[in-house]
Amino acid sequence: MNFEEEFQKKKAEAEEIIERYLPDEKEVPGKLTEAMNYSMRAGGKRIRPVLMLESYRMCGGDAAVVEPFMAAIEMIHTHSLVHDDLPDLDNDEFRRGKKTTHAAFGPALGVLAGDALLNYAYETAMKAFDCCEDAGTVARALRILAARTGIGGMLGGQSFDVENEKNGVFSLDRETLDYIYVNKTAALLEAPLMIGAILAGADERTVLSMEEIGHKAGLAFQIMDDVLDVTSTLEELGKPIGSDEKNDKTTYVTLMGTGGAREEAGRLTREAVGLLASIEGDHEFLKNLLLFMADRRK
Ligand code: IPE
Ligand code: IPE
Ligand code: MG
Ligand code: MG
Ligand code: MG
Repeated sequence: MNFEEEFQKKKAEAEEIIERYLPDEKEVPGKLTEAMNYSMRAGGKRIRPVLMLESYRMCGGDAAVVEPFMAAIEMIHTHSLVHDDLPDLDNDEFRRGKKTTHAAFGPALGVLAGDALLNYAYETAMKAFDCCEDAGTVARALRILAARTGIGGMLGGQSFDVENEKNGVFSLDRETLDYIYVNKTAALLEAPLMIGAILAGADERTVLSMEEIGHKAGLAFQIMDDVLDVTSTLEELGKPIGSDEKNDKTTYVTLMGTGGAREEAGRLTREAVGLLASIEGDHEFLKNLLLFMADRRK
């Protein structure tokens, strides 16, 4: 099987797991669950749950405890997208090839569906207590999930990102931009790699290596997102291009051009791949996934 086929297979496996944990619209009818499921089912690459499952298996895990966490990380990520697209943030109308949640359901439901997904993510992750005898391990994974999502992670980064836009595209230096990217994006790529390792009972050194891999690959991921914002199309990307320019964002593309940005993403990715070598287990798929993340077309 080549990488593309293997990725599609693992993505389908993740989709099936996520679907099982989505709120039941018959049990809880109404616009809120409809809007939550609309955004969750719109598509997406499912990179975070695939990374988590891969890290878990690579570290020797083979139980169902990882499944609620896989669904939870995708819910948190989807919440971040639903809110990122809101009129008061990036104000975008398309996501994952469909109307954004606020465009389809109205701004109030955009806010509430995002909130509800974030909360449901924790309700979902806590189901891991029902399928794992070691409550301490589940609690440790939950701690990472919450911390990487919160003020010292994705939400902190998003806040810093919007605070610093509209000051002109050259207003931020690279150090400040890296700070934003590490938080708004890398934090939610570190989390699945670390949680997979923790749930599989990996040692501290392995968990720290996973964090470092997620850090570098996460930075590269956001740099490539900047590149795609100027080089792709709405049809291919499933979200509007030119969103960063519209919002006067400083990005890696404004700092160093698309060529320089690609090179930087490549350099960080090679470092992330290099770190994999220190971890025991079969890295082949994870290595190719990291390479794909920095060379993707959408
Ligand atoms: C988009 O994430 C937001 C960023 C952190 C750059 P993805 O590119 O993973 O979006 P989906 O899940 O595939 O839609
Ligand atoms: C946002 O970065 C990252 C998130 C935490 C959602 P962007 O604003 O560049 O993400 P896209 O391009 O809208 O997906
Ligand atoms: Mg944004
Ligand atoms: Mg955006
Ligand atoms: Mg973007």
